[in-house]
Amino acid sequence: MPHLVSERMGDVPSDEMTLEARLSEREYKRPSPAFIGQANAADPAIYDRIGSFPEGFEEYAEMLEWDRHWDEVFDGSNPPFFEWFAGGRLNASVNCIDRHLETRKNQAAIIWEGEAGERRTLTYQDLYREVNAMAALLTSVGVEEDDIVTIHLPMVPALPITMLACARIGAPHSVVFAGFSAGALADRVNDADSSYIVTIDGYYRRGEFLDHVDKTNRALDDIDGAPEVLVWGRHETPDVSSSYLLVDDLLDAHRRDRVEPVIRDAEDPLFLMYTSGTTGKPKGCQHRTGGYLAYVAGTSKYVLDIKPEDTYWCAADIGWITGHSYIVYGPLVLGTTTLMREGSPDHPHKGILWEVAERHDVDIFHTSPTAVRTFMKWGAEHLEGYDFDFRHLTTVGEPIQPEAWLWYYNHVGGGDAVIVDTWWQTETGGHLITNLPALADMKPGSAGLACPGIEAAVVDDAGQVMDRGGAGNLVITRPWPGMLQTVYGDDDRFIDTYWRAFSDIDSDDWTDWVYAPGDGAVYEEDGYFRILGRLDDVMNVAGHRLGTMELESAVAEVPAVAEAAVVARKHDEKGQVPDVYVTLREGIEPDATVIADIVESVENEIGSFARPANVEFVPELPKTRSGKIMRRLLENISNDEPLGNTMTLRDPSVPEAIRQQVQGR
Ligand code: WT7
Repeated sequence: MPHLVSERMGDVPSDEMTLEARLSEREYKRPSPAFIGQANAADPAIYDRIGSFPEGFEEYAEMLEWDRHWDEVFDGSNPPFFEWFAGGRLNASVNCIDRHLETRKNQAAIIWEGEAGERRTLTYQDLYREVNAMAALLTSVGVEEDDIVTIHLPMVPALPITMLACARIGAPHSVVFAGFSAGALADRVNDADSSYIVTIDGYYRRGEFLDHVDKTNRALDDIDGAPEVLVWGRHETPDVSSSYLLVDDLLDAHRRDRVEPVIRDAEDPLFLMYTSGTTGKPKGCQHRTGGYLAYVAGTSKYVLDIKPEDTYWCAADIGWITGHSYIVYGPLVLGTTTLMREGSPDHPHKGILWEVAERHDVDIFHTSPTAVRTFMKWGAEHLEGYDFDFRHLTTVGEPIQPEAWLWYYNHVGGGDAVIVDTWWQTETGGHLITNLPALADMKPGSAGLACPGIEAAVVDDAGQVMDRGGAGNLVITRPWPGMLQTVYGDDDRFIDTYWRAFSDIDSDDWTDWVYAPGDGAVYEEDGYFRILGRLDDVMNVAGHRLGTMELESAVAEVPAVAEAAVVARKHDEKGQVPDVYVTLREGIEPDATVIADIVESVENEIGSFARPANVEFVPELPKTRSGKIMRRLLENISNDEPLGNTMTLRDPSVPEAIRQQVQGR
């Protein structure tokens, strides 16, 4: 039974309570009566209601406008290829825009702040016009239903407009985060076999104009085929190759066009979002239209507590899943005002976020623990003097240390806003573990309860459910509508990555299938989940997920490098950063040029956000007798920890020598 406020009200610690339980009792923060009084989810019965499987999830689907009602809520007959709301038909852009025109056409849908000081408000009516014009343009250049459109855009209105235009014509989008390099863009275009790239001349970051279209210029060399390139203009006349199509010019011919939405089956894909895994190649997580949209609508309403009259600001980038689900789709389905901002949080000054929050009277604010740690480091004085007042705060992407949590609570939340620590993944579409803010007390450092309708557990490596309090593998034991459909073009990889570990994969009974997210967790006595982090070779750098193998293959591209291992080093602000250990080819001397080449290769293959923190030249990498690189030992070394067991190594003196080299300094 979940740990609900209503049960705990008036709780007096009894003598039977252990000291530990009594101590932990004090760690909770209770939502204010004012928050509870206005919350979208204020009745604990919601857990039973949505938890009645699978019909409970119909409540989320009913938040959408359907052209045809679904025949069946859930079809589990072909696990793990589950279907949600099959037979139902809908269009995502209609759900985000058209349906709101009658009631709130002149309400702001998107407020945008550019880094160069520009401000733009798109009402629902404006968004309707822009999305229709772009949809008409895309159609006119040949985009058809089911064509995958790659969108490589930064945080400018063109990004959600292009996404929604694709949704309108039934063309799944594949947004590639603007910080990704030419190489990463090419990989994603190739994997999706995408014939269209939508980009922009450039954008601003810390006062600098970054040439962005250059990444597409360079990616084209590595792209199979010749995709059509469409370029938006951040500047009025972008200076680009004459073979590219200039969106702003072409849009003029379509300004007054209206495009009949292409009505999609609930199970038709809405988008791909590539994410890093344990092997080199990024995976295209394929998300369905109906189940995804229903799930992000439901969680936006109940977890984020969004109401149409709110101004909601998620300071993530739309190029990641957080922005898809909780800047664009969830908030717009609910008809609220969603704010997006270009640029970094310290430009033009370290109080800019709070200045923006004050300017637009933001009610709900959403950011990452990395950002909170950065604000902490800058100091509370940067928030002083700004008159902002949040009722609700979110964190996402990494575990948040209690210290950072309390800072967020006191300095950003003014000691009375609620905080939800939301655990989920690119693959899950929306939140799976986090509290409904009015219904459960907050506990700093703990993501909280499983969301309504979600069944989570912590199991040992054999798949046995562990006793409360033990650290093990987090698993999700029942399907949910926001889950990915598959890995694009690779059903086997979908099964191998997420299901094989704890499922009976020969069974055609869906209850034998268990989803393995790859995270470690503790299921605590109070029913809260404390997330420990990734258990696989994936690191989390400033909330960005990076695969060890992806980094290693970028490092190995450098001709001087013989072998490379990349491990995560703990970092005060970013959570983790990549440390690179390399051996060099015969006759090559370690020097600054090799380091520069390694850094450059990572920037070219992935992006500068993945830049290594350290490069260590070592004579040999620690390996097992069978030749497997022991990254764990290198991780011990990077983190100033004692070396773990070295008994199984081919040469146990290797890690000790590296330890002395690195830690001895
Ligand atoms: C991984 C997913 C989904 C939003 C952004 C990241 C880690 C995510 C939390 C949290 C502790 C978290 C997990 C997860 N993670 N949220 N609240 N507490 N860890 O999406 O890039 O797909 O990464 O981020 O390790 O597996 P992503």
